[in-house]
Amino acid sequence: MKVVESPHELRETLKRYGPNAKIGMVPTMGNLHQGHLELVRRAKNDCDVVVTTIFVNPLQFGTNEDLDSYPQTFDADHNVLETLEVEILFCPAAETMYPQGQNLQTKTIVPDIGNTLCGESRPGHFDGVTTVVTKLFNLVQPDKAYFGEKDWQQLAIIRKLVLDLNFPIDTVGVPTVRAHDNLALSSRNQYLSETERRLAPQLYQQLCSVRDSVQTGNTDYSSEETKTMNTLSTLGFRPDYVAVRDADTLNHPNDKSNTLRVFGAAYLGRARLIDNIPIGCA
Ligand code: PAF
Repeated sequence: MKVVESPHELRETLKRYGPNAKIGMVPTMGNLHQGHLELVRRAKNDCDVVVTTIFVNPLQFGTNEDLDSYPQTFDADHNVLETLEVEILFCPAAETMYPQGQNLQTKTIVPDIGNTLCGESRPGHFDGVTTVVTKLFNLVQPDKAYFGEKDWQQLAIIRKLVLDLNFPIDTVGVPTVRAHDNLALSSRNQYLSETERRLAPQLYQQLCSVRDSVQTGNTDYSSEETKTMNTLSTLGFRPDYVAVRDADTLNHPNDKSNTLRVFGAAYLGRARLIDNIPIGCA
């Protein structure tokens, strides 16, 4: 595996594979877990060259968020990517990605779909995500890019970005990888204490209850959401939102919604947990 830090070196390395090589990109912020590795496995299966990126993108963290304490485990990440036979690891420094600083940055913004759910409670977060992903798309020029369904909103936003800006890239969503008790894997799970970790799968369980209720014909989404928020509070979470939404637009469900999903976000201690699952009946 070739480790590259500069855009120039990245371009030169990619050239060696020739113009017809199918390039897969797996963007990450490192601290790799099985969820990330599943993206890499899919990319390895589909493509000739896999570029995994590790970059803790300051632009997508709010002022009171965990940029400074975000877990960084470069050596372990490097080793596991080598085991999976990834061809290129691109790990630029912040100064390389934002040579003129973060404030002078041209941004790509996906309005509407980026302002709801997590976008409401994390203003500017998705602008940071779409801006760095746009830059990575331009640098790597992949044929396919892989994103986890745990961050469904991020995936939906990137699909819109790709469509609106005509990136010739196939955006592949990969199902959420869960622990034995169904907690969605996330780097932020390590912020949980032992007691919080035992409680954490309740977020998924509560989303399952909403799904079951909607599947049996309940269309009073708002009451169901409020009830679930109250249950999460009683259990010890600080819920941010529980929402039944159109899976593609993230709008409130309407006659045109083909597929619904239920989304949830809640704090447990200092960890902000998110999850979402499909609803089968729409
Ligand atoms: O999902 C993530 O890890 C990040 O948001 C991403 C896509 C790597 C952009 O920084």
